[in-house]
Amino acid sequence: ADALKIGIAGLGTVGASLVRIIKQKSNELAVTCGRPITITAVSARDRSKDRGIDLTGITWYERPEELAEKADIDVFVELIGGAEGAANVAVRTALSRGLHVVTANKALLAYHGVELATIAEEKGSLLNFEAAVAGGIPVIKALRESLTGNTISRVYGIMNGTCNYILTKMEKEGLSFADCLKEAQRLGYAEADPAFDIEGNDTAHKLSILTTLAFGNKIAADDIYLEGITNISIEDIRAAAELGYRIKLLGVAQRTDTGIEQRVHPTMVPVDSVIAQVDGVTNAVAIESDILGELLMVGPGAGGNATASSVLGDIADIAKSQPGAQRVPVLGHPAKSLETYRKAQ
Ligand code: NAP
Ligand code: HSE
Repeated sequence: ADALKIGIAGLGTVGASLVRIIKQKSNELAVTCGRPITITAVSARDRSKDRGIDLTGITWYERPEELAEKADIDVFVELIGGAEGAANVAVRTALSRGLHVVTANKALLAYHGVELATIAEEKGSLLNFEAAVAGGIPVIKALRESLTGNTISRVYGIMNGTCNYILTKMEKEGLSFADCLKEAQRLGYAEADPAFDIEGNDTAHKLSILTTLAFGNKIAADDIYLEGITNISIEDIRAAAELGYRIKLLGVAQRTDTGIEQRVHPTMVPVDSVIAQVDGVTNAVAIESDILGELLMVGPGAGGNATASSVLGDIADIAKSQPGAQRVPVLGHPAKSLETYRKAQ
């Protein structure tokens, strides 16, 4: 089958990881997806920046909008960020051209997601956004696919890796809020403007996406009760611990008699609860529904590789959606026979 040609706009933490992974795993991906995945175009602000990735043979576009409009691609991958500006214009341009779009941009989706999904539907293209919520955890797939038929009563969890990293480091290592935030930025967990993380907006953006998928309500990130972690001190964390609690920034959306309640705020959770054990950049999303009961998904919530893993999954879904693409890949890894396994024990 023909290669799936992709253009990547944004070569920061996530974009650079994605390029690295696609290049390292190109042979394996070609088999798994039934066709090669080829990066034909990229764009970022500063062409001279050393990103530790090889861009030989890939066309560089000065502006992401130009890439979206002119590049020879099947999929436009948006890894820039921001609800407005370059990301917004480029995604609209790509969708209007009938391209598939993959994005990790929760701010864009929280404010324009429904409109963008409508354009995609009109054009018969796909808008995939697994990486936009809880990094590497496949929570969008769970809501959009696996839980179809379930009536959901509640979705809640830890949805911001930066905040959970800060709260964990403050508690376990006694470091200051400012030092923990700096470290989260250095590790590539934080947003370009970290106020979105620590003031809770990023969790609200993610929660609004989950709420809309879970309950079918109109997406409304600004209607969410919002309180971040900027006022949490080491003393608060210690006082909570003395009472048998840990402090976590939770996003909660639940069905009530009067509508869907949505809130984001620091919450005292009992130390022996599963959610209290979720440390560092790890996220956890719980979904309660009538048929399945409670589903809890825990995993890496931010960072280049965790996020690129979800972006790649979205790209692979598009590659596999072509008729004739191989659905059951044969990678040639020999399976150990039970006999061999027993002998090794
Ligand atoms: P980042 O490190 O700040 O990278 C942003 C990239 O976009 C950079 O390459 C930058 O170019 C480019 N860019 C910014 N403004 C631009 C403009 N006006 N025109 C062209 N290029 C522009 O961000 P990131 O952490 O990779 O995040 C990217 C997206 O993924 C965001 O939507 C973020 O919310 C989302 N996300 C991130 C994570 C994470 O853990 N980092 C997890 C989930 C989702 P230069 O490099 O030249 O400056
Ligand atoms: N800044 C975000 C976080 C990135 O810390 O969770 C993942 O969406």
